[in-house]
Amino acid sequence: MKVFAGNSNRLLAEAICNYLNVPLGRATVRRFADQEIFVEIQENVRGEDVFVVQSTSFPTNDHLMELLIMIDAIRRSSARRITAVIPYFGYARQDRKPGPRTPISAKLVANLITEAGADRVLTLDLHAGQIQGFFDIPTDNLYAVPILARDVKESYNLSNVMVISPDVGGVVRARALAKRLDCMLAIVDKRRERPGESEVMNVIGDVSGKDCLLIDDIVDSGGTLCNAAEALLKNGATSVTAYITHGVLSGGAVARVTSSSLKELVITDTIQPTTAVQTAHNIRVITTAGLLGEAINRTAAEESVSSLFD
Ligand code: R5P
Repeated sequence: MKVFAGNSNRLLAEAICNYLNVPLGRATVRRFADQEIFVEIQENVRGEDVFVVQSTSFPTNDHLMELLIMIDAIRRSSARRITAVIPYFGYARQDRKPGPRTPISAKLVANLITEAGADRVLTLDLHAGQIQGFFDIPTDNLYAVPILARDVKESYNLSNVMVISPDVGGVVRARALAKRLDCMLAIVDKRRERPGESEVMNVIGDVSGKDCLLIDDIVDSGGTLCNAAEALLKNGATSVTAYITHGVLSGGAVARVTSSSLKELVITDTIQPTTAVQTAHNIRVITTAGLLGEAINRTAAEESVSSLFD
């Protein structure tokens, strides 16, 4: 087995290699003066089972192109099998046509990765599970829920905890966490009653006096999260903490979270945390290296990956 990484998340790639007890493969990924990407794999991969770790996070297009070019270089070097390990799969939110004459970019990205030469994909908390079907190669979608549940158990008195989905679309994910923690579930329902009027947040469930745990797959601008936190506190919640897999945190999101009433935002390291994230007083990062490392181990050994979640 050989593991290589692009530039998106070397810290996670190194942690995965530590878990697997293998060195990170030697490769250079650099830019020509005009920003074209140039990749050089600096060790023999002929006949090897190769894993390329790269999140397609900000700057999304550069990181996607790095992934495609790395896969191409490895394929042309006669690797036996190439698995694209994509801890955060960017473009996943464009998984359907929101209107006429719009693209389904998640499908296009899946086609590009396959066409570049990937034989398998390993990813985590896809925005929509159906995106697995956009690939005609085997695709494993892992879940961060066991890692999040373990952290909750270590940090909270479960007798007063309630799990909250910040929107109706996230109920399945929230239910999975609530089931693991044996906790009650509530839902924040965002509704725009009339066009042009601002959205009203209705809380479905009694959250008064509860320590609320919001769970979601992505925090991007932080709007969904901070609005949901406000609605919960208005409805009598004692505290609101958020557990969110992918900390996209674009633009002023970190400032929005630090100045919000959120007790804590816990994210994972699928996207390499910026300095602002690392120094934020109410943001904590937990690692997915063990989960991804074990899934890589099992893929290489042709063992079950789904049994990781039994
Ligand atoms: C939406 O369906 C996702 O699950 C997240 O709730 C959304 O992407 C969060 O975005 P933002 O932080 O910009 O509100």
